[in-house]
Amino acid sequence: MTQTYTIAVLAGDGIGPEITEQALRVLRLIETKRDVVFDCKEAEFGASAYFSVGKSFPEATIKICDEADAILKGPIGLSHEESEKIPVEERPERGALLPMRRRLNTYANFRPISLPKGMAHFSPLKQEVVGEGIDIMLIRELIGGLYFGGKERGEKEDGTRYVKETLDYDDKQIRQILEVAFKEAMKRKKVLHNIHKSNVLISSVLWNEVLEEVAKDYPEVQVVHMLVDAAATHLCLNPGQFDVMVMENMFGDILSDQGGGILGSLGLMPSACMGPDKAYYEPSHGSAPDIAGKNLANPYSMIGSVALMLDMSFGMEAEAKAVWTAMQSVFQAGFSTGDLSKPGAGVEILSTSEFGDKVIASLEGLL
Ligand code: IPM
Ligand code: MN
Repeated sequence: MTQTYTIAVLAGDGIGPEITEQALRVLRLIETKRDVVFDCKEAEFGASAYFSVGKSFPEATIKICDEADAILKGPIGLSHEESEKIPVEERPERGALLPMRRRLNTYANFRPISLPKGMAHFSPLKQEVVGEGIDIMLIRELIGGLYFGGKERGEKEDGTRYVKETLDYDDKQIRQILEVAFKEAMKRKKVLHNIHKSNVLISSVLWNEVLEEVAKDYPEVQVVHMLVDAAATHLCLNPGQFDVMVMENMFGDILSDQGGGILGSLGLMPSACMGPDKAYYEPSHGSAPDIAGKNLANPYSMIGSVALMLDMSFGMEAEAKAVWTAMQSVFQAGFSTGDLSKPGAGVEILSTSEFGDKVIASLEGLL
């Protein structure tokens, strides 16, 4: 019997629509090769939704997401100047993205920092540091900490303005993300880097206490404790030491962008945001308004997000693998896009859609 999956497709802002278009081509191709239907329901989300219907996460979109089996989401956001035209509460980060994370309870964010050997030239790190390539799974807690804690702003009697933001976690929240991390470590090299700041933050002290409890159930996993600031250095000096890394929300936001940096671009960073019932998939980067609509952006992060969806939501591991291989083969064949490579870098620069053509052609042969 034909398997049908309903996918909410939120193309988002900036380069979102053009890279989403390429990602949808991949799904269309898989439909022709397998007994599967991807029922894609497009919906507005982000700044574009605000300008068209006055809400950045409109009711109609919420409904489509609620009814979908999984959600494919493009980048959101605007330039600083354009953002100022939207009331603070409706700006896409606060009005759409964080509410979506909260609604779906997507506490586990998987951010692969991955550069196979054939793409090692993208990394700004020296060849001897990159070695056989980079292959890290950064796991970020996504719905706790400073992002979701209480916020207060006021003025003291003497007129000094102050803010107070709270970093909230409880042991249940910590346990559930650590469980995910240990399970992932078991599937990989059984080495887990626990990233924290327990020399200063009591949130990290509790985090580490819970980690000791959870670790008892995973005796085969070797845990390496590392302070977050040190981890930032180690990511540059010796990325090869990491396999699975786990950390709280804000540490993960920052270190995952650094992950994009050691790959050479955030454009190479897809991600999966997993909740207990549903997941959504998105690039880890922003909407790149400076190059939007120019057919310049590389669709890797969006197509990679589709690959993660195939694997993690639909159990289509072989197809997911084929998608990764297809994308990587395009780079290996000497092609790139203008956002990733400069003319004269010894590669042929393609447009977004031409890059998509090559991925599709390669994937045809792999499915
Ligand atoms: C990310 C983004 C978001 C975050 C922003 C857009 C709110 O930077 O997904 O990493 O900080 O989580
Ligand atoms: Mn970020």
